[in-house]
Amino acid sequence: MKRKIIFATGNQGKLAEVKEILKSLHVEVLSLRDISFEKVIEETGATFEENAIIKAKTIMDIANEVVLADDSGLEIDFLNKEPGVYSARYLGEDTSYDIKNNTILERLKGVPDDKRTARFVCAIAAAFPNGEIITTSGTIEGIIGHEIIGDHGFGYDPIFYLPDYGCSTAQLSMEMKNKISHRGRALEKMKEELEKRGF
Ligand code: IMP
Repeated sequence: MKRKIIFATGNQGKLAEVKEILKSLHVEVLSLRDISFEKVIEETGATFEENAIIKAKTIMDIANEVVLADDSGLEIDFLNKEPGVYSARYLGEDTSYDIKNNTILERLKGVPDDKRTARFVCAIAAAFPNGEIITTSGTIEGIIGHEIIGDHGFGYDPIFYLPDYGCSTAQLSMEMKNKISHRGRALEKMKEELEKRGF
């Protein structure tokens, strides 16, 4: 019988990505929807890691299964690493990304490229029923572009420019983005940790 792993998300896109990366492990990946969990977990941590641990532990305490959770966001060096853990809540949870992205472009108006450095960060936590907690993380470095460009991806992708690729992350195919993204990198490391534990 396959072992179960719950990935603490309601986001089907993320779930598909996790299933794809973990497919060589002998596990069944379930989402919060699959276990009928509908509450919002407050992200009260000061770091991505703390928030990922809060989410993984909350669900593990309820479900008593192995639970993975992630937390991610955008750090802009010129803005003292804002919006950081507040990436989803920046200017208000319900504010459109068009407004969020245009506001950031405005705040960086006139700032030269070498001071526009930024990164997406992702932390993943695993909480095990025996009490063990482990975390992995991944980043992707880029700069904040000068315009909104590209219509793939989501969130801050249209202003996150990759000089090495000559495009924004919103101009990459989903396959390519998953291969080089913060979440993809953190997940690959988590897969190694799970393999070490016999999954
Ligand atoms: P969460 O990890 O789902 O809470 O996401 C946090 C927020 O960070 C998202 O709502 C986006 O605003 C931002 N974010 C995280 N990863 C990405 C990405 O790959 N592209 C664009 N925005 C991202």
